[in-house]
Amino acid sequence: MNNQIYKVTLIHNGQKKEMTCPQGTNLMELLQENKIYLEAPCGGKGLCGKCKIRVESGNLSELTSDEDRLLSNKEKAEGYRLACSTWIMGDAVVSLDDSSDTAQIVSRGLEYSVDINPSVSKEFLTIESPSVEDQRDDLKRLEDALNMRYTFIPLGLMQRLPSLLRDNDYKVTAVYDRNNILAIESGNTANEQYGIAVDIGTTTVVCYLVDLVNGKQLDVASRLNAQKSYGGDVISRIAYAADKAEGLKRLQMEITSQLEEMIKGLASKNKIELEHIYNIVIAANTTMIHLFAGLPPEHIAAAPFTPVATRLMVYPAEQFGVNINSACRIFVLPSISGYVGADIVAGILSTGMDKSDDLSLMIDIGTNGEMVLGNKEGLISCSTAAGPAFEGANIRNGVGGVAGAINTVRLEDDDIRYTTISGMPPIGICGSGIVDVLAVLLDAGIIDETGRILPADEIESEIGKKLKERLTEVDDMPAFIIAKGEETRSGEPIVMTQKDVREIQLAKAAIAAGTRVIVQKMGKSMGEIKRLYLAGGFGSYIDKRNAVRIGLLPKELEHQIIAVGNAAGTGALLSLLSRKLIQRSNIIKTMVKYVELSTSPEFQEEYVNCMYFD
Ligand code: FES
Repeated sequence: MNNQIYKVTLIHNGQKKEMTCPQGTNLMELLQENKIYLEAPCGGKGLCGKCKIRVESGNLSELTSDEDRLLSNKEKAEGYRLACSTWIMGDAVVSLDDSSDTAQIVSRGLEYSVDINPSVSKEFLTIESPSVEDQRDDLKRLEDALNMRYTFIPLGLMQRLPSLLRDNDYKVTAVYDRNNILAIESGNTANEQYGIAVDIGTTTVVCYLVDLVNGKQLDVASRLNAQKSYGGDVISRIAYAADKAEGLKRLQMEITSQLEEMIKGLASKNKIELEHIYNIVIAANTTMIHLFAGLPPEHIAAAPFTPVATRLMVYPAEQFGVNINSACRIFVLPSISGYVGADIVAGILSTGMDKSDDLSLMIDIGTNGEMVLGNKEGLISCSTAAGPAFEGANIRNGVGGVAGAINTVRLEDDDIRYTTISGMPPIGICGSGIVDVLAVLLDAGIIDETGRILPADEIESEIGKKLKERLTEVDDMPAFIIAKGEETRSGEPIVMTQKDVREIQLAKAAIAAGTRVIVQKMGKSMGEIKRLYLAGGFGSYIDKRNAVRIGLLPKELEHQIIAVGNAAGTGALLSLLSRKLIQRSNIIKTMVKYVELSTSPEFQEEYVNCMYFD
C-alpha cells in the first residue's frame, strides 16, 4: 500500500461529488464520511447484497466471493459492486441510482385533539425600572413581574440580565417552564413559540414543526435514518457501537447532526428563528434512544437485555449534541424495556388505549414487531425479533418503500397485475407487495399451507395452472416471477423465491404468536378485542384482507383494524403540546407489563403453530 491520495467521483441524481482518500479505503466508509448513506441491512458484512453501486471507471479492488455470489451476471457485466466489499486502489468514478429522496415514509397519524398546554411558556413583561427609592435587584424585578419566587436561572443568562433589561428599556419577553427561566428575549416575542416532535425509527426519522401557541402542525420533514448504512436493524447498530472504536460516538453524531439539520431546514423553510424553538419531544425505540443519547447499548443485545435507562429524560438540547439555542430542551419519552420503547409508549398515548374501557390491541410492524394489549385497567406488551422481512430486508428482490417498489399485487384477468410506487419501472418489491403476492399465491394454490411453492405438476386449481409459466428456478430453488425481465428496470425478473416465503413465514409467525401469547397472558380471547390499531408505515399500506389471509393479523379482528400511521410521531406531537401528556407517558410506563418471549414456552408452541397458512 502507498500513501498516495486518490480522487473518487460520485455521480448521483445528475450531480457530481468529488471525494479523496488514501489507497485501500473501503468505498462504503468513504461514502459514509461524505454523508452518503447506502442501504446496508447487514451492516457492511457482505451478506445482504443491498449496498450496490456502479463503477463507471477506475481502479478498485478485485471482485470478492461475496460480490460474486450476491450480484447477478448482468449486474457484474454492468459494473455493479457492493460498496462494503470494494476498496479504492486508484482514481475512480462511481454512480448511484439511489431513490432514497423519494422514500415513502408515513408521517401522518391519527387525528387528535388536545388542550394546548406545552412545557414552556412565554410572557411579555414591562418591568419597572430601578430608582433610588426602588433598589430591588434585576432578578427580583423580573421575578416580581412574573409573579414568581425562587426561580432557577442559568448563570450565563443571569450574567446577561442587566444588559438585556437596560438595552430593551425594560421591555422583554420571558421564556420559562414553571419556575425555570430559560431565556429572556428583547421586546415582545410572546407569539413566537415553536417546538419539534420527532420519531426516530430504525429506518426513518420524521420531524414535525409545531406552533406551540395555536397547536398547529406547520410542516413535516422525513428522512431515512442516517445510521442505516451502519446496519439495517438494532442488533447490527448495537454491534457497530460496541465493536468499533468510537462506534457509539459515530452513531450518536450521525443521528444528532441529522436531527439538527432537519430542524434547521424546517426553520429556514418556514422562516422561523431557531432561537424560538424551545422544546423537542422524541419518541424512539430503546436502542435508538441509547444511540441518540450516547448511552452504551450493548447490554440490550443479549440476555437479560438490560437498557442503561428507560425513564423520561429532559436535558438541554446542547447536551445531546443538538445545537439549536441555549434555551432549547429535549424531552425523550420513557420506554418500557429493551425492546418495547418510547415509540410504543407514544403510540399508546396517541390511541388513548390506556384510558379506554374497551380492550384494544396495538401492533407495530417495523424493523421489529411490538404488540400491546389492554385498556385503562392495565396493559401488557411484548416484542418479537420478527426481523425486517416486511421492510424488504432478507428478501431476494426486497426493497424499502422507494420509487419503483412493487407495492400492490393482485390477480386480474387470470394473470398477475401489480403497481409500483410513483409508477416507475419495478426495481424490487416492498412489504405491502410481499404480503399481497403471498396471499395471491395461497389463493391460487401455488403455495400450500406449509409454505411450499408447488411444482407445476402438483398445481390443481384452474387459476394456478394459468400462472404456471411464471414458475421458475433461482439458485436451485423454486421461485415465482412477479414482474418479467422485460418489465423491470434492471432487465432481470423480480421473483419471490422459496427462501423468501420461508423468511415471511418466520416473521409473520413471530408476530402472530406474540399476539396470541399476550392475549392468553391477560386471560382474554381475540373476540373480546374491540379495536386493532395497526401502527407504522407498513401498517398504513398493507391490504388488511391479505394480511389476515397470510396469518399476520388475527382473522377474528379483520373488521376491527384501524391503520393509525405514525402513532409514535403522533404521540410525540401530542406530548409536545401538552405537559399533562408527558406526565401521562410516565404513568403509561408503570401501567405496561412486559412479557419476555425469548424464554416463553407458550411462545415457542404458538410460533410453530403460526408458521402454517390456514
Ligand atoms: S452486503 Fe454490503 S451492506 Fe450488506
